[in-house]
Amino acid sequence: MNTRERKVVNAQITAIGKYLPEKVLDNKYFEQIVDTSDEWIRTRTGIVERRKLEEGGTSVLATRALENLMENSGLKPEEIDVIIVATVTPDMFFPATSCLVQDNVGAKNAWGFDLSGACSGFLFALKAGASLIQSGDYKKVVVIGADKMSSIVDYTDRTTCVLFGDAGAAVLLEPTEDLDYGIQDAILHCDGSGRDALYMAAGGSAMPASHETVDKRLHYIYQDGQRVFKVAVKGMADVSVEIMKRNNLTAEDVAYLVPHQANLRIISATANRMGISEDQVVINIDKYGNTTAATIPLGLADYYEAGKLKKGDKLILSAFGAGYTFGSVYLVWSMD
Ligand code: COA
Repeated sequence: MNTRERKVVNAQITAIGKYLPEKVLDNKYFEQIVDTSDEWIRTRTGIVERRKLEEGGTSVLATRALENLMENSGLKPEEIDVIIVATVTPDMFFPATSCLVQDNVGAKNAWGFDLSGACSGFLFALKAGASLIQSGDYKKVVVIGADKMSSIVDYTDRTTCVLFGDAGAAVLLEPTEDLDYGIQDAILHCDGSGRDALYMAAGGSAMPASHETVDKRLHYIYQDGQRVFKVAVKGMADVSVEIMKRNNLTAEDVAYLVPHQANLRIISATANRMGISEDQVVINIDKYGNTTAATIPLGLADYYEAGKLKKGDKLILSAFGAGYTFGSVYLVWSMD
């Protein structure tokens, strides 16, 4: 039996990194390949451009993001205990993308796993990683959100192809005995009744790849945009307000809402319900589109790099995505 004394700790983010592929696809590009316009995309979604990874799979995005984190912080690969990769576009079914990342960076003492939570994947992985830290068994847990959405986007379908981009971002979780910092609370949900609103039909065990599935274009994202929009607006706002109430937070207490970046109109509706102003909302959908599991850590990385996140800032991270999956995390930022 393990008789080690376990201290009460929170998990805090102590380092951050990101990776964006160089290739930019702007709205003009989509005007050339489908029946759309820059004006429609901007006004309906808030997106101006997004990135595309030209060589390799999601492990490239995840590895580069972790390398960037290590450069920023001096973290050595052999110090890493666990690598969690949140993604819906793993390089392959198996081995897990986390294994590829582990090998790429030489994290020879780490174990890890992939986590499939779609656009809420990073929040689910953050909670899983925080629990590993709080167990007392692990001191350095890397949580990565990365998706190569361009690998499952149908570039002949104007209703989805303009929405998504490729990116990866990573955070390091470490314990803190100062419970005023780090991850304070999480409210996370699955609602599988939404399984047919946003999904990729083929390629899994229910409908393995065949000539027929390829001919029918079933290896691409299908989304009933309006149906998802309605539940996303309500789901993301409800859970964000709930976590504020549960932690006695007023709008003034919150430094930033860090929302999943699917649609600027969903983000604004969530901020309105929370009673917070536009300048308290992390927004980068204009630059990157919807990068699925990467949006939230990418938002944190961008705002931290820009000097906008300060130690002690109270942040609400919120997401809604395929599944459905949705949730909020309340954390107190602890990096200077
Ligand atoms: N360019 C031009 N027109 C387009 C278009 C495009 N890229 N995409 C769709 N349209 C058209 C539709 O065909 C439709 O035309 P019709 O009226 O002639 O049938 C019209 O625009 C309105 O379509 P609709 O689906 O009602 O648009 P919308 O305002 O709901 O916006 C989304 C579409 C996808 C941007 C929006 O529904 C959305 O953001 N949904 C939620 C996404 C989300 O949160 N996903 C979960 C996380 S991944």
